[in-house]
Amino acid sequence: MKTTTRLKLPPAVKGNWFFGAGIDFALDPISFLNKHRDTQGGIYMVPSRAKNIMVVQDPELVKYMLQDNNKNFIKSFGYDVLAMLLGKGLLTSEGDFWRKQRRMAQPAFHKERLNSMVNAMVNCTNEFMEKLEAKRGQVVDLSKEMSHVTLHIVATSLFSSNVEDVVDTVAQEMDIAQGLAIERISNPFKLPVWIPTPGNLKEKKSIALLDKVMMDIIEKRRNDPNKYDDLLQMLMEVKDEDTGEQMSDRQLRDECMTIFLAGHETTALALTWLWYILDNNPAEIDKLRAEAETVLQGNNPQVEDVMKLEYTRMAIDEGMRLFPPAWAIGRRAVEDDEIGGYRIPKGYNIIVPVYHIHHDPKIWDDAERFIPERFRKGNLKDKHRFAYFPFGGGPRLCIGNNFALMEMQIVVAMMVTRFRFKHVEGHKVVLDPLITLRSKFGMQVKVE
Ligand code: HEM
Repeated sequence: MKTTTRLKLPPAVKGNWFFGAGIDFALDPISFLNKHRDTQGGIYMVPSRAKNIMVVQDPELVKYMLQDNNKNFIKSFGYDVLAMLLGKGLLTSEGDFWRKQRRMAQPAFHKERLNSMVNAMVNCTNEFMEKLEAKRGQVVDLSKEMSHVTLHIVATSLFSSNVEDVVDTVAQEMDIAQGLAIERISNPFKLPVWIPTPGNLKEKKSIALLDKVMMDIIEKRRNDPNKYDDLLQMLMEVKDEDTGEQMSDRQLRDECMTIFLAGHETTALALTWLWYILDNNPAEIDKLRAEAETVLQGNNPQVEDVMKLEYTRMAIDEGMRLFPPAWAIGRRAVEDDEIGGYRIPKGYNIIVPVYHIHHDPKIWDDAERFIPERFRKGNLKDKHRFAYFPFGGGPRLCIGNNFALMEMQIVVAMMVTRFRFKHVEGHKVVLDPLITLRSKFGMQVKVE
């Protein structure tokens, strides 16, 4: 533990005399963090009655927290709430337990394993496009549509195709449980879980149903003599290198639920925002379409095509710079620490505003413009590792980053030659920064 008592706390931003600045932060975090990005240094305090919050916005200091001294910064409030749904899965566990689980799950996301999932991704996208054909000329909520396709892709990659009948139930219940979890995070006055309010009962019911569905799938698989080429099979078979231990049914349930949740909403949002940007940048659509036509020649994408979809990948990267689905990362200091010459007392909550770093004009020229060329190989070499980090960083880096990138390249390349989504006039697009960066009123578009 560091001796930090001689150090000062980071400078505090001014706020309401009674509530502190925390209330402004809670009401509109995007504007709040925007306002203070350019006037504060790399780290500052947000005095608040409810919780002690600090913001770390300098890439080098972010590196210290997420990478160099990551053991001292565990996941903070919000993750506790998610744990009600996800148990001790990868996203919500900590310490040695997390390390063991990560070691065991990692091989399931290796490149060769991912390559075997291309077909599932292509088939789900084709099925999805068939359904979308029927909606040509109609107005749809694109965020729901994108959620639909990414949910089917993650479900098929996890459980193969023998769970079609339960996918919709899982989607529906997960939506309810997640919605209620978000409400709990954003509303400090919500009554504790053990009080039987209608909302709490609904949440419990959804989680119980999800538990049953997941446990049934696992039990069925345990008794199935066939071998499947999916994530569940891999997670079931993997043995811990040191102890030879395998995952219990409960652990499998937690990991599957985690992959289900972490693996579909973020990807759906990245796609939704990208279509939104493209609608305002028709020249970019032309470039994507030209690349898809040249590479695919009207065929379904194969593994080797994915690497050739270079511009598509650059557009996806740039889309996640402007609209990072994980718009902020939260941590809590386990012990006293020092960041940027300031004292970080044990127990303080720290927010890393990914969105604001991605939009920082000190880091990015013409920061608000969509310029995929920024991401051409070699163009990022002067940028800090934590100038762009939509998948986080350090040991807790998103385990599904390559899965998501491959999936998005496939979905975009397949769809861009057939569809265009026109933003419905008058429909307001307002950022809604909950756990992920959603659009407050969905994304109303006309399918063309
Ligand atoms: C565009 C899509 C995605 C984005 C932007 C994204 C973003 C992130 C971020 C920022 C983290 C780190 C959170 C933190 O440090 O607090 C994370 C963790 C994680 N993500 Fe993703 N993710 C995406 C897709 C996926 C997919 C497709 C999967 C699974 C198939 C997945 C599974 C996970 C898991 C299991 C973790 C926890 C890893 C650990 O702590 O060991 N994610 N994700």
